[in-house]
Amino acid sequence: MAQTMIGVIGGSGLYEIDGLQDAAWQTIETPWGPPSDAILTGTLGGVPMAFLPRHGRGHVHSPSSVPYRANIDALKRLGVTDVISVSACGSFREAMAPGDFVILDQYIDRTFAREKSFFGPGCVGHVSVAHPTCPRLSDACERAARDAGITVHTGGTYLAMEGPQFSTMAESKLYRESFGCDVIGMTGMPEAKLAREAELCYASTAMITDYDSWHPDHGSVDISDIIATLGTNADKGRDLVRRLPALLGTGRAPCPHGCDRALEYAILTAPG
Ligand code: ADE
Repeated sequence: MAQTMIGVIGGSGLYEIDGLQDAAWQTIETPWGPPSDAILTGTLGGVPMAFLPRHGRGHVHSPSSVPYRANIDALKRLGVTDVISVSACGSFREAMAPGDFVILDQYIDRTFAREKSFFGPGCVGHVSVAHPTCPRLSDACERAARDAGITVHTGGTYLAMEGPQFSTMAESKLYRESFGCDVIGMTGMPEAKLAREAELCYASTAMITDYDSWHPDHGSVDISDIIATLGTNADKGRDLVRRLPALLGTGRAPCPHGCDRALEYAILTAPG
């Protein structure tokens, strides 16, 4: 049986994980350039872990400048099998309140200024992202969140916007009413697509920080409110992550949903 290695990509407010044994920051090179930062590796409950701060320590990468391909490639090179994305988001649903978590299962990708694929001229491949997250890994995240006492919503559609500005009220209402999205953020894509191309199981836990700008009682998004909510959310995020090794275990059977075999029929270019 293969060995599990959990990779955590931490978003705004989550720049480390607690309790790692034999912790060391590793600098990884990739053909796509350097990842956002060095990667913190170690073990937690006997399970190898790798943690990458998506925006870099000191928050130096904007959503558009995050090196998404290098990040996924670097985790893959380290031997990561399961990637957990943790990110902040705004909510389009009254019942999905700031402080709650959402385990995402769908995306609408409205980003336009990012490299979105490992494929290109010379090697053409088309993977399916109809179901962009791994149900097995998402279940583990949901369980970890519940065990940590977090209010968690199972399933949600994420609008990935380019940013860095927040949405206009008209956009916010469009995404909520016409697109049927539940939450909005700036970093969920192309990360999820690239994880699939890299044949990694991927789950996304989105931490709600605000009601975006559609809500008549909440006005426009205010970064100081977001930062205040992030403070408590990040503690919850760390608690969730701490619980994952016990839930996932050290041994890893092939993914029942085929995430680890996504390229089996995806590559069109003849072997050279
Ligand atoms: N991240 C946190 N809140 C957000 C919002 N309202 N829009 C986009 N990204 C966000």
